[in-house]
This record gives sequence, structure tokens and C-alpha cells, in this order.
Amino acid sequence: MSAQVPVLVAVIFVTWACFLCRSSESSPLQVGYYNATCPAAEGLIQTIVHAAVRKDSGNGPGLIRLFFHDCFVRGCDASVLLDDPTGNATVEKMSPPNFPSLRGFSVINRAKRVVERRCPGTVSCADIVAFAARDAARIMGGIKFAMPSGRLDGRISRASEALANLPPGSFNLTQLVASFASKNLTADDMVTLSGAHSIGRSHCSSFAGRIYPQLDASLNATLGRLLRGRCPAATGRRDRVAALDFKTPLQLDNQYYRNVVTHEVVFTSDQSLIDSNDTAALVALYAANRALWSQRFAAAMVKMGNIEVLTGPPGEIRLKCNKVN
Ligand code: HEM
Ligand SMILES: *[C@@H]1O[C@H](CO)[C@@H](O)[C@H](O)[C@H]1NC(C)=O
Ligand SMILES: *[C@@H]1O[C@H](CO)[C@@H](O)[C@H](O)[C@H]1NC(C)=O
Ligand SMILES: *[C@@H]1O[C@H](CO)[C@@H](O)[C@H](O)[C@H]1NC(C)=O
Ligand SMILES: *[C@@H]1O[C@H](CO)[C@@H](O)[C@H](O)[C@H]1NC(C)=O
Ligand SMILES: *[C@@H]1O[C@H](CO)[C@@H](O)[C@H](O)[C@H]1NC(C)=O
Repeated sequence: MSAQVPVLVAVIFVTWACFLCRSSESSPLQVGYYNATCPAAEGLIQTIVHAAVRKDSGNGPGLIRLFFHDCFVRGCDASVLLDDPTGNATVEKMSPPNFPSLRGFSVINRAKRVVERRCPGTVSCADIVAFAARDAARIMGGIKFAMPSGRLDGRISRASEALANLPPGSFNLTQLVASFASKNLTADDMVTLSGAHSIGRSHCSSFAGRIYPQLDASLNATLGRLLRGRCPAATGRRDRVAALDFKTPLQLDNQYYRNVVTHEVVFTSDQSLIDSNDTAALVALYAANRALWSQRFAAAMVKMGNIEVLTGPPGEIRLKCNKVN
């Protein structure tokens, strides 16, 4: 027995540990989920995203942000796409973090129409949002990765939940880490995903507090003056926009992290990434290594795509992305 007990203990331990590792890391999603039921889906979506970005490069950042805003509110369930049937501004889409800045809806609707024609009632809107974000990352940054799928669409969308779950640009590091932790994402994931601010734009109202009445001391003064020029003092009826990465605004790359180092980023949230030793070290690492960041960004997008996914009732495959069935 002397030799057998340790072996038995080891076998039990390994079985138990593997059960744990599976329960914490397994995902209900699969790469190629539509292989059998709609093999054309991912290709059709990619073609449409490609055309949309060629026509208006703003669709690239728009679609990447759409995925984030979907996943952080009730999970990646396309709840962000639902219209309010009552005309009341009570859906996510109409909430201040999303309206009027969120864009890319028409690209998703177009992709859905084309995919529905080929494979009726088969591909969820939540998966289309995820595929489109993945395609945008490839087009804007050459970042290629497989996006697991198999999400179902939700039936509920509440403006109050968008407000409660989407971090504003005014958040400090503590608040950002807490916001991501509430979605089971780490501080590293948060730093990595913030690199999406390497493309796209912001409305002046989202950072007005950093340029008026005084220039924020943590903002590079040259950029501060430039932003004041873009954004007239009284942010009144016309809320103008400024590029998030004014150095390479159309490249999804690690320039964002260099900008954080030189204090040339738009939001308090961006600048706060150097407020702890750990996050500052990661910023420096990414600033020096584009390939490493790209690879980690891809992995973090996949991880974000697993937040609270619906794979059974009450989830459904919507027939139109802006309406529940
Ligand atoms: C870390 C916390 C984050 C905060 C506080 C934040 C905040 C913001 C704000 C305030 C805007 C500007 C909205 C406007 O006024 O037009 C914005 C834009 C953007 N965000 Fe974030 N964001 C965060 C994380 C992310 C993540 C995780 C992603 C995607 C992976 C992302 C992707 C984008 C993109 C691409 C834009 C530009 C959108 C466009 O050009 O239409 N952000 N973000
Ligand atoms: C779909 O096909 C791809 C490529 O052959 C494969 O890697 C993937 O595992 C398949 N997925 C499923 C769910 O069949
Ligand atoms: C709009 O919302 C208000 C307040 O929540 C509610 O009283 C009203 O019935 C709603 N209107 C419609 C058409 O649902
Ligand atoms: C971050 O903001 C919260 C809420 O305003 C505040 O309580 C906290 O002290 C701030 N943390 C830091 C490190 O500034
Ligand atoms: C985070 O993980 C815990 C434990 O696995 C789980 O109960 C919770 O639902 C997860 N939260 C999100 C937002 O995924
Ligand atoms: C601000 O940015 C400009 C332009 O990149 C740079 O030349 C300058 O050194 C920066 N200022 C500070 C204080 O970092």
C-alpha cells in the first residue's frame, strides 16, 4: 500500500485540479461554431465590414467599441442593438455612454440582412457584433485572430444598465480596475484593451473637464492647446470631435501606449494607466513592443467576448438585430 497511496492521491488531485481548471477556463463558445450550419457567415461579414471601413474609416473604431459596449452591459448579447419599441429613451442604445457617440449599427444591420438571406435564423446578432469587431481589428491593425462564437441574443435592454456598467473617461485607475473586475477582467486586460484608443475619436464633451476651465496638469500642454482649438470653450449645441490618437489615428497599433508615456492621451482614464507601478510597467512594455501588444489584445478581445454569454433560453437568434423576435 505504501507505494499506492501517493499514486492514488496524485490521481485524485490531478482529476480535481483539472475539473477546476476546466470550470474556470472553459468557454461555451467555439471557433467555427457555424462551420456546419452557415459556413459562409464569417466570410460574408468580413466582406461587409471591409467595404464599410473603406467607405468610412470611422466604422472600424465604431465596431470595436460596439463590441465592448455590448459585452459590458448584460454580457455579449447584442442588447446594445435593440431599439425602444415605445419610443421612450429607455434602451442601452439611448443612454449617455452610447448616444449619440456609438456608431457602426448600420454595418451590423447590413451584415445581418446578408447573412439572413444565406442562412435564415441561424447566426446571432451577438456573434455578428463579435465577428465585426475582430474584422475591424484586422483591417485597422493587421491583428488576426479566431473569434469563438455561439452566443445567443438577449431580449432585454435598459439604459440605466449602460450608465451603470460603462466606465466614463473621467475614471481613475482604481475605478477602472474595479469596473473591469466586475466583468472578471484583470487590470492587465484593462490596460491591454485600452489600446483600442489607438483609433477613433471622442466628442469634446467626454474630455472637456481636462481642458476647461484649466488644462489638466497631467495633460501635455501642446496637446491641451490643440484640443482647445478643436473644442470651443462653451461646449454648447455642437459637440465636436477629436482623434484619440492624433499621431496615427487610423492605425490600431501601440502608438497609444507611447502617447500615455508622453501624456498625450485624451481621457483621465488613459492617463491613469501610469498611476501604479504594475500598470505603468505594462504600458512601457507595450509602448516598446507592438507585436506583443497585438497578440495580447487579440486574446483580451476573445476573453471580453465571453462575458456572460447566453447559450440557452431566454437567448434567441434574432431575425432583425434591432428587435426581439
Ligand atoms: C478602460 C475604460 C474605457 C473608457 C473609460 C473608455 C471611454 C471612452 C470614451 C469616453 C470614448 C469617446 C466617446 C465619445 O465621446 O465619442 C471612447 C471611445 C472609444 N473607445 Fe473607449 N473606453 C474604455 C475602454 C475601451 C475598450 C475596452 C475598447 C475596446 C476594446 C474601447 C474602444 C473605443 C474606441 C474604438 C473608441 C472610438 C470610437 C469611435 O471612434 O467611434 N474603449 N472610449
Ligand atoms: C471549424 O473549422 C475550423 C477549420 O477547419 C476548425 O479549426 C474548427 O475547430 C471547426 N469548428 C467546429 C465547431 O467545428
Ligand atoms: C415611457 O416611460 C414612462 C416613465 O417610465 C411611462 O410612464 C410610459 O408609460 C412610457 N411610455 C410608453 C409608450 O411606454
Ligand atoms: C478614484 O476616484 C474615487 C471616486 O471618486 C475616489 O474615491 C478615489 O479616492 C480615487 N482614487 C484615486 C487613487 O485617486
Ligand atoms: C465572474 O466569475 C464568477 C465566478 O466564476 C461568476 O459567478 C460571475 O458570474 C462572473 N461574472 C461575469 C460578469 O462574468
Ligand atoms: C508634449 O508633446 C510634444 C509633442 O509630441 C513634445 O514635443 C513635448 O515634449 C511634450 N511635452 C511634455 C512636457 O512632455
